[in-house]
Amino acid sequence: MTDDDDALVDRGWMVVDLPDASIVHAVGERLRTQLCTDLGTTLERLEDYHALVADDTRHLEVLGALATVFWNAGLGLEIVRRNLPLFQRLVGLDLHVQTYPYLRAARPRCPQDCTGLHRDTYYGASPFELAALVPFTDITAASGLRVISGSHTEPGTAYPFMQTQAADVAIGSLRHRLGFPYAPRTLDPGLDRRAEPVTLAVGQALLFGLGLVHGGVENTGATTRFSADVRVANSLAPVQWARGVRADYYTPLCSAPMTRLARRYPTDE
Ligand SMILES: [Fe+2]
Repeated sequence: MTDDDDALVDRGWMVVDLPDASIVHAVGERLRTQLCTDLGTTLERLEDYHALVADDTRHLEVLGALATVFWNAGLGLEIVRRNLPLFQRLVGLDLHVQTYPYLRAARPRCPQDCTGLHRDTYYGASPFELAALVPFTDITAASGLRVISGSHTEPGTAYPFMQTQAADVAIGSLRHRLGFPYAPRTLDPGLDRRAEPVTLAVGQALLFGLGLVHGGVENTGATTRFSADVRVANSLAPVQWARGVRADYYTPLCSAPMTRLARRYPTDE
């Protein structure tokens, strides 16, 4: 099932059929073949990855190598570029795209692979930023992808957090670069019961604003959940373009002629 644009505004999230799903299938296949090379074995389906990598340290190494391939080939940006009319309709003609999108793999019964419910505006993100969660495996209710509808309109007092220091995440470390915070702001675990599961088929995407409470909770299914989340923002929105250890957190993708004209105006006038 897919949603109309009002769902994004009112609920804070929507499910879309990507106009060009072929790029997602191609990227998934690229990831699968890369894993075969890196692991030195055959992997028929990304869903079965957990059967090959049970050790957490090894998993982090493998996912880090895979994410590096994903980043170096600009695959996240390519998914957005090939579906540009969708993103321009929702976000505008002037777009920045996250340079190093988060590649995620949540193995069954491995809560350590998951971010848990969170609100990215608690980590310096802006509610103007859109996240596109693009799965490379089908996501069922058991996969653990959850959202709290309408939470993007609620104040911080509705979602108090406890800040801790993650023992296994240093600033700039691989785990940090893979999208795990070094100082997690943990929401009340009881919220998990209020969060609704989102189901997605490969070729669809979950789009949401970063003020929404969302996250990957424990995957209780039988297969590994592989996805990328790619942030897209209007270049003219009040967004912090450089962030954390990344001066190039965002890459400009496209702009309207009038914006390009305006950028030529001398800054000392
Ligand atoms: Fe997030």
